[in-house]
Amino acid sequence: MTAETALASFRDLAPEEDDFLAEVVAGLSATPKTLPCKFFYDEAGSALFGRICELPEYYPTRTETALMRDKVGEMAAAIGPQAQIVEYGCGSIEKVRILLDALQAPAAYVAVDISREHLRQAAEILATDYPAVEVHALCADFSRPFEVPDGIPGARRVGYFPGSTLGNFDHGAAEAFLAGAARLAGSGGGMLIGIDLKKDEDVLNAAYNDAAGVTAAFNLNLLVRINRELGGDFEPGDFAHHAFYNGSAGRIEMHLVSHRDQEVRIGEHRFSFAAGETIHTENSYKYSVAEFQALASRAGFEPAEMWRDPADLFSVHYLQVP
Ligand code: AVJ
Repeated sequence: MTAETALASFRDLAPEEDDFLAEVVAGLSATPKTLPCKFFYDEAGSALFGRICELPEYYPTRTETALMRDKVGEMAAAIGPQAQIVEYGCGSIEKVRILLDALQAPAAYVAVDISREHLRQAAEILATDYPAVEVHALCADFSRPFEVPDGIPGARRVGYFPGSTLGNFDHGAAEAFLAGAARLAGSGGGMLIGIDLKKDEDVLNAAYNDAAGVTAAFNLNLLVRINRELGGDFEPGDFAHHAFYNGSAGRIEMHLVSHRDQEVRIGEHRFSFAAGETIHTENSYKYSVAEFQALASRAGFEPAEMWRDPADLFSVHYLQVP
């Protein structure tokens, strides 16, 4: 049976399958040890991230969603009519719905995501619910350069990057990513982007150290995934979740701390851990409004408008390409 589809296109740029083993071995062979945060999101990890977004301590998701609901009229006015929206990653489709509902005659929506099945499902749902919008799905790694389907002539191209996911990039990589987004949007195009703000350290530390232990489970799931997919013999109970705000670097760091001296095998590979040694698993950079605007400007955007919640927890920026 051929599935009926409301999608205008599904394009598979067949992103190179990440070499999970090679990246894990490289990260655990480095000093200090690291693992890339992109590997958090297997099925269990994605479900845990969904639970993080509902936690009382984890303010970013609910603050950004409320800000979108409050200010989407102004955001839609800034973007203007007949835009072609390109979303970088389509984690939850809740936020883009708020945007699509408010935009004046959006011409097209292009979802870009590396997770093929998740992308297909999300794009199908949106295509069905927004029959007037041309919905395209593009399976690609958005942290590398990619092309989108030629739009509708005259449609302004506008990136959408919610969730403060930019925070996972170091400053150099963030600038390079934004420069690529500016190039893709082209002159007259733009970008709507959610950025988590610098704030009271206790609030930041609580958001990554929830009382229910969901963030700890999310972090430790990386070891469970390595065991299952790569034949590792990590004892997750021998590692502890450790997250803290590093003020001089302006970022939350997440680590997994070894409780004791131990050796771990992954297939043929062996790694030794000293008691107290850590694996650095994630950075989540926080910005002041001025810092983010300076970064966006270096990348070739012009900061046009900015919205933040009354408690100054989170910001959404509209950037224009001159
Ligand atoms: C999805 C990268 C925005 O940095 O806050 C949440 C991931 N890590 N809790 C963030 C995350 C731990 C999240 N981002």
